[in-house]
Amino acid sequence: MPEAPILELHGLTRHFPVRGLLNRRIGTLRALDGVDLAVREGEVLGIVGESGCGKSTLGKTIMGIHAPTGGEVHFEGRKVAAPGLERPPEVRARLQYVYQDPGASLDPSWSLRRSLHEPLVIHTGLPRAAREARIREIVAAVGLPDAHLDLYPHEISGGQQRRVGLARILALGPRLVILDEPTSGLDVSVQAAVLTLFRNLRAAFNLTYLFISHDLAVVRSMCDRVAVMYLGRVVEIGPVAELFAAPKHPYTRALLAAAPRVGGPRVTEGFILQGEPPDPSRIPEGCRFRARCPLAAPVCAQEPALEGSAHQAACWRAEEVA
Ligand SMILES: Nc1ncnc2c1ncn2[C@@H]1O[C@H](COP(=O)(O)OP(=O)(O)O)[C@@H](O)[C@H]1O
Ligand SMILES: [Mg+2]
Repeated sequence: MPEAPILELHGLTRHFPVRGLLNRRIGTLRALDGVDLAVREGEVLGIVGESGCGKSTLGKTIMGIHAPTGGEVHFEGRKVAAPGLERPPEVRARLQYVYQDPGASLDPSWSLRRSLHEPLVIHTGLPRAAREARIREIVAAVGLPDAHLDLYPHEISGGQQRRVGLARILALGPRLVILDEPTSGLDVSVQAAVLTLFRNLRAAFNLTYLFISHDLAVVRSMCDRVAVMYLGRVVEIGPVAELFAAPKHPYTRALLAAAPRVGGPRVTEGFILQGEPPDPSRIPEGCRFRARCPLAAPVCAQEPALEGSAHQAACWRAEEVA
C-alpha cells in the first residue's frame, strides 16, 4: 500500500537577512529552520501554527517562490529545490500555490474566458479548441455555467471569482496544490461551501493538498494528517483524529486549549499559551518552545528531534503530557 511520497522535504531551511543601518546585515531571521516532511499522494496534510511560525514560507519555498537557504525539496521523485539548483521547468504546472483569495488575481479588463485561456497559452502547446474543451470541463467542475465565460470579473460575485481563480490553477493539471489560508476572511456558510468545493475538486482531479491554516476546526474537518509548526520547525505531526484527541507536544496542547470550539481534550490552566512567540531572528537555544513551556526542564536545553512512528512529537517531556 505505501507508495513513494509525492513530496519530500529534507532539512528545508529558509533564512532571511535582517538589515540595519546602511543596509548592513545585522542578523538572520530563521523563518523556516529545518523541516523534514513526506506527503503521500492523495492525502490532505494540514499545516497549523500561530501567525509568523513559517507556514507561508514553507509553502513558498516548496513552490519555488523562495529559494531554500538549506535542505532539499523532492517532488514526484526528483529534486526540484536546493541551494543553487535551478528549478526544472516541467515542475511549474504540476505544483501550484493558491493564495488566500485566488479570485483577486483576475484581470478586471479580461473576460473570464481570456483569463482562463492565458495560463494554458503560456504553459501548454494546446491548440485553441483543446484549450476551450479543457476550460469548459474545469469550469463545470468548479460549479460555474459555461455562459459565464463571456462575463468580466465585476459581473460575477466574489465567491464566483474565487471559483474562476481556482479554475485557472486547475486548468494546468497540477498534482499537488498548496492552499494557503484558503478560508480566512470568509463567513462560516461560505467557508463550508468552499471546503466542499476543495473536497470535490480533490476527488475529481486526484489532487494532493498541503492545507495551510491557523483554523484548527477547518483543519480537523479537511485533513488526513496535520503538522504543527513552531518557529520554523515541525514540532508535532500525526493523523488528525489522533493528534487532536491526544496531542503530545505542550505547544499543540496549548493551541487546542486556545480553540475551544475544536473540542480538544480537557486542559489545565498551565496549558494556556503565555506571551507572544519569540522573534524568529532570536530563536532560543535548545527546545525553541521552552521559554513558554509549562513543562520546561533542564533537559530542554538540548533541541529535541521528532520521535515516534505515525504520530511524532519533538519534546523531551512528551510523556508528562500524556
Ligand atoms: N520575504 C521576507 N523577508 C523577510 N522576512 C520574512 C519574509 N517572509 C516572511 N518573513 C518572516 O518570516 C517569518 C514567518 O513568516 P510566514 O511564513 O509568513 O508566517 P505564517 O505564514 O506562519 O504567518 C515571520 O517572522 C515573517 O516576518
Ligand atoms: Mg501565512
